[in-house]
Amino acid sequence: MDNLKFIQVETDENIGIIQLNRPEVLNALNRKMVNEIVRTIEDMDRDEKVKVIVLYGNGKAFAAGADINEMAQDSAIDLELLNQFADWDRLLQVKKPMIGAVHGFALGGGFELALACDLLFAAEDAKFGFPEINLAVMPGAGGTQRLTKLMGKTKALEWLWSGEMMTAEEAEQHGIINKRLPKELVIEETINYAKKLAEKPALSVRFIKEAVYKAVDDSLLEGMQYERKNFSLLFSTEDQKEGMKAFMEKRKPQFKGR
Ligand code: CAA
Repeated sequence: MDNLKFIQVETDENIGIIQLNRPEVLNALNRKMVNEIVRTIEDMDRDEKVKVIVLYGNGKAFAAGADINEMAQDSAIDLELLNQFADWDRLLQVKKPMIGAVHGFALGGGFELALACDLLFAAEDAKFGFPEINLAVMPGAGGTQRLTKLMGKTKALEWLWSGEMMTAEEAEQHGIINKRLPKELVIEETINYAKKLAEKPALSVRFIKEAVYKAVDDSLLEGMQYERKNFSLLFSTEDQKEGMKAFMEKRKPQFKGR
């Protein structure tokens, strides 16, 4: 793997650990960073020494979303041509268990990355949400699909339309996370759990994962592709330009509904 700029990678026994590492922007996910994450996960998936993959964020957050500065000026056509979410689809092919250890913000694309994990352990201070609506866009990397599969249509719409953040306790009640932990223990406990899972017979672990996703996710890719068209389409609205401009200028956006 070539030089990694936005993530740090290490192994602890047979656990592959990925640290999201852009703390100065709350680990906002730019395209290169997503590509680094996905390629590293794929490498670990192929590496016989790695049994379980763990992701966590450096600094104050897991990840506060896709990098708004990077995409603010994109047009719908730019997004289609970039096909930037293709990397996210590749996560659906990962065979080994992926566990997220979330502290602080997991918003937008950061929440989507967390939801792409098989299991989630969260610190008491974790905050999950999809604030895209406040930028006059919508989730583009699987958020509408995965959240709905986890909590059902009614609650998912409520969260997606409000753009509000849910606490770790709420996320636990909605079945989004497996466990809440004190902040200072979340990474260590996640790695300990991963080590226990790594002792189980690897092929059983793998086939159980496949069977469970077969049960819930058969048409996820179709849903994500549908979502993506609409995500791109929103970049042709005036409200999207205004929403992202207002974020960067640190002011309240003035939406026109067009
Ligand atoms: N993109 C780019 N930069 C971001 C960012 C993002 N998603 N989130 C935070 N940052 C930057 C901030 O601009 C700030 O940079 P400066 O110091 O240069 O001003 C730095 O990270 C620290 O953030 P704040 O000062 O805003 O920290 P805070 O504690 O006051 O607020 C927050 C934290 C509520 C998470 C706020 O940063 C925020 O609202 N971030 C944006 C969240 C968001 O809208 N995410 C969705 C993005 S769209 C998306 O993800 C689409 C998709 O589905 C793929």
